[in-house]
Amino acid sequence: MKALLSKAIGGPETLSLDDLPDPVAGKGQVVVAVKACAINFPDVLIIEDKYQFKPARPFAPGGEIAGVIESIGEGVSGWTVGDRVIAVPGHGGLAEKMALGAGQLFRLPEGRSFEDGAALLLTYATTIHALLDRGRLKEGQTLLVLGAAGGVGLAAIELGKAFGARVVAAVSSEEKAAAAKAAGADETLVYGRAPFDKDASKALAEQFKAAVGPKGADVIYDPVGGDYAEPALRSIAWEGRYLVVGFPAGIPKLPLNLTLLKSCDVCGVFWGAFAARDPQANQAHVDRLFRLWSEGKIAPKVTETFAFADGGKAIAKLGAREVIGKVVVRVS
Ligand SMILES: NC(=O)c1ccc[n+]([C@@H]2O[C@H](COP(=O)([O-])OP(=O)(O)OC[C@H]3O[C@@H](n4cnc5c(N)ncnc54)[C@H](OP(=O)(O)O)[C@@H]3O)[C@@H](O)[C@H]2O)c1
Repeated sequence: MKALLSKAIGGPETLSLDDLPDPVAGKGQVVVAVKACAINFPDVLIIEDKYQFKPARPFAPGGEIAGVIESIGEGVSGWTVGDRVIAVPGHGGLAEKMALGAGQLFRLPEGRSFEDGAALLLTYATTIHALLDRGRLKEGQTLLVLGAAGGVGLAAIELGKAFGARVVAAVSSEEKAAAAKAAGADETLVYGRAPFDKDASKALAEQFKAAVGPKGADVIYDPVGGDYAEPALRSIAWEGRYLVVGFPAGIPKLPLNLTLLKSCDVCGVFWGAFAARDPQANQAHVDRLFRLWSEGKIAPKVTETFAFADGGKAIAKLGAREVIGKVVVRVS
């Protein structure tokens, strides 16, 4: 089989399409013929050894896939060859075939494309966990979403609306603001490009405060970090929850006096570890996501697809801050 491999630390241009032996389904495993692999920011980081997981090389990036079961190992029940499935293996998805534990599989609903199926879980499952378990978001509360036209950002807008929140979407361009509006945001604000000096940081805090309103944001969903974090925290409500989701703009430092002044919580979000520690709670979230998808309340926003050989270009585009929604690689 072919796989798009990272053989040395480096950017997307270092990936190469190579031959590997076909995987074999071990005990409790199935082999999935990968049809589509969605790209996420962790793919940008993992090939540069900047992600929290560092797989041994050579490895294929690609954190979430949809495909068809090709063979089934010993001891697997409930699945048959030909079943259409979704999985979030973390890496390895930019390959024609993957051996996966049967417990990692979710059924791709009838009538849904492989591209949409591949683009569902990482973003929405992260976000439902963030908003409900960590953010305790309630109907009628105000949710501020940074990087709101990105993968997890658009998911936060849709889920925020599905849970009855007022959603303020913050993005870096008018085009991204239009995408956030189309996803259901009640209000949008366009921020500048970091780095920010002291005055620009203060001005951004005022911009956030004006957008969320005088009570402040009950929940702030931050998958951006960097110089955006402190101005956003300054717009939080009394007893608000600030969700630390990711750092494409850099890892910020926050003055802790701000948490005292607002009696607010800064909450880390680590969906992969949550799902591993509490699979039942994660499964309940995933079941809810499939229901919301069938009701039309959420839907993956695949804005561009790439050929398998161009998988590196998809990762490069995400790293360059140019993607709206999700990009997906058609593997076979
Ligand atoms: N904690 C978890 O469990 C978990 C799970 C999944 C993903 N994540 C993290 O969430 C973050 C977002 O992931 P994603 O897949 O949604 O990525 P994405 O689609 O690329 O969205 C990230 C957004 O960050 C903003 N941004 C600001 N500065 C940037 C920069 N220098 N480079 C690139 N983007 C920049 C961009 O929005 P604007 O241009 O509008 O600012 C972009 O749309 C990543 O850090 C990822 O690792 C965390």
